Amino acid sequence: MLPRRLKELFYRCAGLPMFMNGVFYRYFRAPRTGLVKVHLGPGQKKYLQGWLNIDANMFTGKCDVWADLRRPLPFHNATVDAAYAHHVIEHLPNLKQHFRDVFRCLKPGGIYRVGGPNGESAMKMFVAGQPDWFMDFPDKRRSIGGKLENFIFCRGEHLTILTTSYLAELMEDAGFQNVRTCLPTRETSRPDFFEDCLRIEWESDFVHPHTLLVEASKPMES
Ligand SMILES: C[S@@+](CC[C@H](N)C(=O)[O-])C[C@H]1O[C@@H](n2cnc3c(N)ncnc32)[C@H](O)[C@@H]1O
Repeated sequence: MLPRRLKELFYRCAGLPMFMNGVFYRYFRAPRTGLVKVHLGPGQKKYLQGWLNIDANMFTGKCDVWADLRRPLPFHNATVDAAYAHHVIEHLPNLKQHFRDVFRCLKPGGIYRVGGPNGESAMKMFVAGQPDWFMDFPDKRRSIGGKLENFIFCRGEHLTILTTSYLAELMEDAGFQNVRTCLPTRETSRPDFFEDCLRIEWESDFVHPHTLLVEASKPMES
């Protein structure tokens, strides 16, 4: 993992060119018709074939569109069928704006599968005194409090705590409906869209999943 200061420097230097690249893509290259599936933040190893993969990191990973997810997404209104973000939104500073923007890009009936570190499971496991549930990434900690902090904030990379009710609030406020939680790697309401995504997800505890995932749709009449 890159040190936080180096990342901050990267975003400071690359922020403007990334923004301009996003604007250029939106107005000159973004699809206006056809099936459009958008994968936000594939990272180094989760590139999805058949999806438009968007990331700020085009150096150690592979992406189709180099763009900053803190800025408006590089797509026209109501042109996207499915959006997917796995362990990405907790890095974004303005989730209200993010969900509104994904909603804007989705077609009526379009669906967003989104999630990240499961704050709910983490708090339950902390209260239950289960240190083994926590992972040693990015840092190894001895105490359960340290493990909780490590999981939730990830050396300062994560800016928020994800829980079901918070995600539902954000999504409903943006206009989404039918918010439902899904087990990573196992459940989706739209296998026709998200089967590929289930294959790249990871989970070892299906009672207290490490990843909180939800799916919600844009109403047909919007
Ligand atoms: C923790 S990785 C997750 C990668 C992958 N989705 C997975 O589940 O393994 C977060 C990814 O989001 C990307 N990301 C974070 N903030 C971003 C931003 N503001 N703009 C574009 N990409 C961003 C990072 O570059 C990184 O590839």
